[in-house]
Amino acid sequence: MKSLLSLSDLSSAELNSVLDVAGELKRRIKGRQEIEDLEGVIVGMLFEKPSTRTRASFEVAALRLGGHAVYLASSELQLSRGEPVKDTARILGGYLDVIVGRVYSHHTLEQFARHSGIPVINALSDLEHPTQTISDLLTIREVKRQLEGITIAFIGDGNNVCNSLLLGASMVGANIVVACPKGYHPNAEILARSKRNAEGKGSSVTIVEDPKEAARGADVLYTDVWVSMGEEAEKERRLRAFRGFQINSKLLELAAHDAVVMHCLPAHRGLEITDDVIEGKKSIVWEQGENKLYGAAASLEFVLEKRAQRTRRLG
Ligand code: CP
Ligand code: NVA
Repeated sequence: MKSLLSLSDLSSAELNSVLDVAGELKRRIKGRQEIEDLEGVIVGMLFEKPSTRTRASFEVAALRLGGHAVYLASSELQLSRGEPVKDTARILGGYLDVIVGRVYSHHTLEQFARHSGIPVINALSDLEHPTQTISDLLTIREVKRQLEGITIAFIGDGNNVCNSLLLGASMVGANIVVACPKGYHPNAEILARSKRNAEGKGSSVTIVEDPKEAARGADVLYTDVWVSMGEEAEKERRLRAFRGFQINSKLLELAAHDAVVMHCLPAHRGLEITDDVIEGKKSIVWEQGENKLYGAAASLEFVLEKRAQRTRRLG
């Protein structure tokens, strides 16, 4: 049984195949073809935090693929009154076919995966946001026609989005440079693993503390919020630490002439990105947002091994 808690749960070949499936599902979904890949499948959407894109994209993906989705806000479950995660997982595992979970602690997802008996997909934890990276890589591949050798500069907080992007970029042979202030570096284990991935692919993973150094010559400039969900108490300290790490037109000038700008959203104009850049010609943020639907669809098919089953049936 497969879960997708981290991008490290995929091999490089599997990640490339998920991207291919996402591209194919995009064509089929946009063409409004009737798809029955998830016929009879019920997806549980267990969310501890708010979400616009991830929630809506997974629910819509389930419906577009012929399945169903059930939204379970953890604040309305007995979890919020202290019922153990493992008891909740055992019960929901008996009702559902797959759980898509957005949680504060990554450990909660690990417990769901251990005790539910069904696949679990990470829809964002404090450690990673793997399905975001799948959609991001799909978007970069569409725009740049390739991933190998592309240089992605992530400017800002070494957070969940950054951790998954490090893993994903290094698994597909893209170079990644992260510019973040001291004290806000990415997870050390993930960084080490990404460096090993990159060595195997002949690409590079670099951490710098100067945004200009990261932006210079980059093909993609990527940023995310400076204050993630659950970090609100640190807001003032973070706003001070990230001053100078904004993606603005001056920083963009240092990037390659055909560079593109990405943000996983929600964005804070005037903080991590300026209004003119996010609304500008080089922004592919809205395509990136749309691609969350196809990344979600491909992630569901991956953990449910739907493609493999269908291929066997046809074969
Ligand atoms: N990018 C992203 O995960 O957005 P949501 O928080 O709206 O799901
Ligand atoms: N790093 C952000 C991503 C939001 C999609 C957060 O965790 O809040």
